Amino acid sequence: MTTMQAVRLHSFGGPEVLVLEKMPRPQAGAGEVLIRVHAAGVNPLDWKVRAGHVKAWLQHRLPLIPGWDVSGVVEAVAPDVTAFKIGDGVYGMLDFMRNGAYAEYVAARTLNLAFKPNSIDHIQAGAVPLASLTAWQSLFEVAGLKSGQTVLIHAAAGGVGHFAVQFAKWKEAKVIGTASAGNENFLRGLGADEVIDYRTTKFEEAVQDVDVVLDTIGGDTQQRSWQVLRKGGILVATLGISSLEAAHQHGVRGEGVMVHPDAAQLTQIAALIDAGKLKPAVTTILPLAEAARAHELGERGHVRGKIVLQVGG
Ligand SMILES: NC(=O)c1ccc[n+]([C@@H]2O[C@H](COP(=O)([O-])OP(=O)(O)OC[C@H]3O[C@@H](n4cnc5c(N)ncnc54)[C@H](OP(=O)(O)O)[C@@H]3O)[C@@H](O)[C@H]2O)c1
Repeated sequence: MTTMQAVRLHSFGGPEVLVLEKMPRPQAGAGEVLIRVHAAGVNPLDWKVRAGHVKAWLQHRLPLIPGWDVSGVVEAVAPDVTAFKIGDGVYGMLDFMRNGAYAEYVAARTLNLAFKPNSIDHIQAGAVPLASLTAWQSLFEVAGLKSGQTVLIHAAAGGVGHFAVQFAKWKEAKVIGTASAGNENFLRGLGADEVIDYRTTKFEEAVQDVDVVLDTIGGDTQQRSWQVLRKGGILVATLGISSLEAAHQHGVRGEGVMVHPDAAQLTQIAALIDAGKLKPAVTTILPLAEAARAHELGERGHVRGKIVLQVGG
């Protein structure tokens, strides 16, 4: 039996439930490739799953390998696969209900994958899929953001936010981001036109008549956001909409977003990266064995850009 190292959880709980262990290497099923993982991007979903916070929605069987962002090299292909061949560099967002990428190998449907951008390494590429697809789908599929519009991006320095800032600038929108003061230069470097320090300024007193709000925070931030939209504007929420009552009062719309795999979008995103128009910000790289540490850092809620686990050499 061929084995591999993987980080798994056997029970829901704190970061300590993540254990590095040996297990059988998966095989590529029909329509799938086996990927030798070089990097696994870390997302809030990973610790929400680990902690059991989303077990009513994602009914995972344990033990489970978390981590649904991958960048790596195709090691084997199922007989029916023509889109990729052995040795191709690929990146993608894996199916949430299956084992993830905190492992030396992962089997993935080709529909979840695209060719990795050429101009960046696997660590950078592993940071991209889930957060960039969320930003893309929120701004373009749900909100229909257009050139010349104004968008307010909450948590603009985070995983989703820092991609959203760059996509909105690429679309020639005006970008206002919320972040703590230490992230102002970072966000201006990504193209933000205005940065509001949410710790010292009430954004609703500084902003008005925006076309789109991207809300990755929820709660009180969401409640205070309805009033900054112009009539007919839209708030897109990654954590759901708690009540549409205020939206109706203000004559605006609210929509939740749920990221979905999209190989064509990943191909477009890779092209933007290779054209120098999009840059993932990886601020912390840890070895696979330190997955628990990655979760501890991420769960504090103040990561700039992304954390990525490096797998293998
Ligand atoms: N529905 C979906 O499909 C979907 C997809 C992706 C993500 N999500 C969810 O969306 C949320 C955001 O994801 P993410 O990957 O972007 O998270 P993240 O990278 O962990 O976000 C961290 C960022 O949040 C900022 N932040 C924290 N509190 C803030 C506040 N009150 N106002 C403004 N910024 C604040 C921090 O900036 P400072 O350090 O400056 O405070 C930090 O840069 C998560 O809950 C995630 O689970 C949902």
